[in-house]
Amino acid sequence: MALDTLDFAVLFALAVAVVAYFAKDQIFGSGNANEKGFLSNTGSSGSSRDLVEVLKKNNKNTVLFYGSQTGTAEDYASKLLKELASRFGLKCLTADLADYDYDTLDTISNDVLVFFLMATYGEGEPTDNAVEFYDYLQNDADQLATLKYTVFGLGNSTYEFYNAIGKNVFEKLESLGSESFAPYGEGDDGKGTMDEDFLAWKEKVFDALKNDLNFEEHDLTYEPAIEIIPMDKDVNDETVSYGEPSAKYLDPTYNASRGPFDHSHPYIAPIATTTELFHSKDRSCVHAEFDISGSNLRYSTGDHLAIWPSNSDENIKLFAKAFNVESKLNDVFKIKALDSTYSIPFHTPITYGAVIRHHLEISGAISRQFLSSIANFSPSPEIKKEVTKLANDKLLFAKEVTSQQLDVADLLLKLSNGQPWTQIPFEFVIETIPHLQARYYSISSSSLTEKTSIHVTAVVEAETHHNKKVGGVVTNLLKNLEIEQNNEKSEPFLHYDLKGPRGKFSNFKLPVHVRRSTFKLPSNPSIPIILIGPGTGIAPMRGFVRERVTLKKNDPSVTIGETFVFYGCRTRDEDYLYKNEWPEYAKALGDSFQMEVAFSREDPTKKVYVQDKLLAHQLKLNELLDKGAYIYVCGDASRMARDVQKTLGSILAKGRNITEEKAAELIRSFKVQNRYQEDVW
Ligand SMILES: Cc1cc2nc3c(=O)[nH]c(=O)nc-3n(C[C@H](O)[C@H](O)[C@H](O)COP(=O)(O)OP(=O)(O)OC[C@H]3O[C@@H](n4cnc5c(N)ncnc54)[C@H](O)[C@@H]3O)c2cc1C
Ligand SMILES: NC(=O)c1ccc[n+]([C@@H]2O[C@H](COP(=O)([O-])OP(=O)(O)OC[C@H]3O[C@@H](n4cnc5c(N)ncnc54)[C@H](OP(=O)(O)O)[C@@H]3O)[C@@H](O)[C@H]2O)c1
Ligand SMILES: Cc1cc2nc3c(=O)[nH]c(=O)nc-3n(C[C@H](O)[C@H](O)[C@H](O)COP(=O)(O)O)c2cc1C
Ligand SMILES: *[C@@H]1O[C@H](CO)[C@@H](O)[C@H](O)[C@H]1NC(C)=O
Ligand SMILES: *[C@@H]1O[C@H](CO)[C@@H](O)[C@H](O)[C@H]1NC(C)=O
Ligand SMILES: *[C@@H]1O[C@H](CO)[C@@H](O)[C@H](O)[C@H]1NC(C)=O
Repeated sequence: MALDTLDFAVLFALAVAVVAYFAKDQIFGSGNANEKGFLSNTGSSGSSRDLVEVLKKNNKNTVLFYGSQTGTAEDYASKLLKELASRFGLKCLTADLADYDYDTLDTISNDVLVFFLMATYGEGEPTDNAVEFYDYLQNDADQLATLKYTVFGLGNSTYEFYNAIGKNVFEKLESLGSESFAPYGEGDDGKGTMDEDFLAWKEKVFDALKNDLNFEEHDLTYEPAIEIIPMDKDVNDETVSYGEPSAKYLDPTYNASRGPFDHSHPYIAPIATTTELFHSKDRSCVHAEFDISGSNLRYSTGDHLAIWPSNSDENIKLFAKAFNVESKLNDVFKIKALDSTYSIPFHTPITYGAVIRHHLEISGAISRQFLSSIANFSPSPEIKKEVTKLANDKLLFAKEVTSQQLDVADLLLKLSNGQPWTQIPFEFVIETIPHLQARYYSISSSSLTEKTSIHVTAVVEAETHHNKKVGGVVTNLLKNLEIEQNNEKSEPFLHYDLKGPRGKFSNFKLPVHVRRSTFKLPSNPSIPIILIGPGTGIAPMRGFVRERVTLKKNDPSVTIGETFVFYGCRTRDEDYLYKNEWPEYAKALGDSFQMEVAFSREDPTKKVYVQDKLLAHQLKLNELLDKGAYIYVCGDASRMARDVQKTLGSILAKGRNITEEKAAELIRSFKVQNRYQEDVW
């Protein structure tokens, strides 16, 4: 886990640059616990950002901090909390890193155990909610001699700076004099072993608790942190949430165009048009244009649009059946927190149906960990035996569950032969099933060209696996909407309630917010740019090109640097995105524009990828790089972005007569200087 010194220097510079960038824009830091919009923190910890005070006031001795972007680390934290409380009697609190200040951390009692579950995001960067904490650690922390800690990093080894944040936090705390009570652990999405890595680390933590800290271990039992209180409310009662994306939308006087719009409060944006971009029987790609003219929502070219999902009717039906709430979908309840630090994750009172449709991640892969937690609720002793066997056997689980692509409802119903699991309390469901997260899309419009419209380009994830439909939540929602909006005859793969709660999404609207990104054109338009974006990776490149076209149109005397686009798809007739637009851009930009397209499946004897096109133009690329060109790469992180980086390395090595190692170092320094930018997922 040691990083060499160059890695460290690079990482550090990168982190500082990122922190500076975001701090300047002040998009975070409003993370006050009770300002979380509908995530209203009802606990008594709500008002304080002083960790030491919150611990004392709520009589807690364990903190589980999470730095999380897409919810995995947060989900792990809440599951670990349950286990630590039940098995070891620890008094735990999960904590969003953005909800606290850190200037009193040096006074924390050494009886407190502090866990950090830290995902790495961007290019070796902290997640949005960890930016301030990371800045504090790097720049302000002096001595943290009383802090007892351990760290689990969440990352993906396909990224260059693998688990950079987890590693850095662990090592930095060590150097500040803190004592680790359990070893550093990390999980790898790239190998698909995140859950297993987490389980292995958890075992080590439990060993340390038993052997070094002398805690006694007990069996895992479910102790609810909340209580559901049924309410006799009328369907028309305006205080009841039907899945409104934030409590503000329940207030009839709320001015919906005002904002601020962020991860806790979206804008319900009208979708002006949707278009199917592919010409294919079995694949879809939706182009959608969100109209933001009725709001003060703004974006800048290269940013991401977060689209707030809801679940499909098909998935909801199965889930409601498995968890035995089919007859209760319209029943209203509120939640009482039994633990003072539990923050209720959505607005209540609410209906069961709204919770399932709008707030829970009910589809997707399941973890062995989840299975262990559910064993005690099995409908029969035989089923319990089966569940326990699956939960304890990694290989069997992989074979029977993961590779079958079962959702949680599929699995429960399969185990019980189609019978509902009547013993699972809905409290457990709310506490244990991850909460539905927005999905990000690279914006494919330019904020200069279309100030009040945001375009996205989304490939629909839908396949049939062993007669079972396996599909992505948001992309199938967009496809369903596209079919309805254009009055197409085809049947959507999955069906959604497009009207939304109280009809708020009707006439084609969806809740969205904008996430600022660091993927940005050079501020000087005369600098040449090299844009590499196969597949959906073309999305932000389209925005960049449109931006340059408009710059030219607005002022023909302005010097626009060269724009060299590398795009790749399967065939020119099937999935060539925005095929008709590129000739227009070429015309507008003249000689300064060049585009190469790699068709991977036109020649059955040979795949052609963007890398082949890069190699074919290496003289030109070296010439542009000598002129200070910026490089942009967008799309698949798992293979494409790496392969492209390697190819560019060898192109540079040849052009400058340097070794491949030197060239790789050069590319890394380009990354630090923002001359090589990636938007990969
Ligand atoms: C910064 C960023 C930018 C992005 N930009 C774009 C973009 O411009 N265009 C774009 O198309 N995408 C983009 N993405 C990806 C996008 O955010 C989504 O991840 C993607 O669209 C899938 O979302 P979904 O809700 O449809 O699928 P999800 O519901 O998140 O499902 C993910 C996958 O799991 C599969 N799945 C469902 N159930 C199971 C199961 N039981 N077992 C196993 N697998 C299952 C689904 O079929 C799907 O393939 C970007 C991502 C990031 C992070
Ligand atoms: N399994 C994964 O790791 C993975 C990663 C990213 C995206 N996806 C999925 O792929 C679907 C479509 O994504 P998309 O539209 O962005 O891309 P895409 O349409 O799958 O691919 C675009 C083009 O890139 C080519 N390509 C494949 N591997 C490459 C590599 N290593 N280097 C350069 N080019 C490469 C593809 O060729 P060929 O397909 O002919 O090889 C195709 O011509 C989505 O459903 C997404 O979830 C899967
Ligand atoms: C856009 C994006 C960038 C990422 N960058 C990195 C990275 O630089 N290094 C790394 O190890 N993992 C990286 N990852 C992988 C995430 O850390 C990993 O998926 C993790 O499980 C996310 O945890 P979260 O759901 O709590 O945010 C990245 C993932 C995404 C989607
Ligand atoms: C991590 O890597 C895998 C495989 O390399 C890739 O398929 C996956 O999409 C990546 N995961 C994330 C969350 O980016
Ligand atoms: C709503 O807010 C917008 C933007 O702040 C403002 O222009 C508009 O007048 C407001 N409308 C009402 C009815 O208050
Ligand atoms: C490239 O570098 C090597 C060693 O540094 C040198 O011997 C060689 O002459 C150089 N080639 C060219 C074409 O400059």
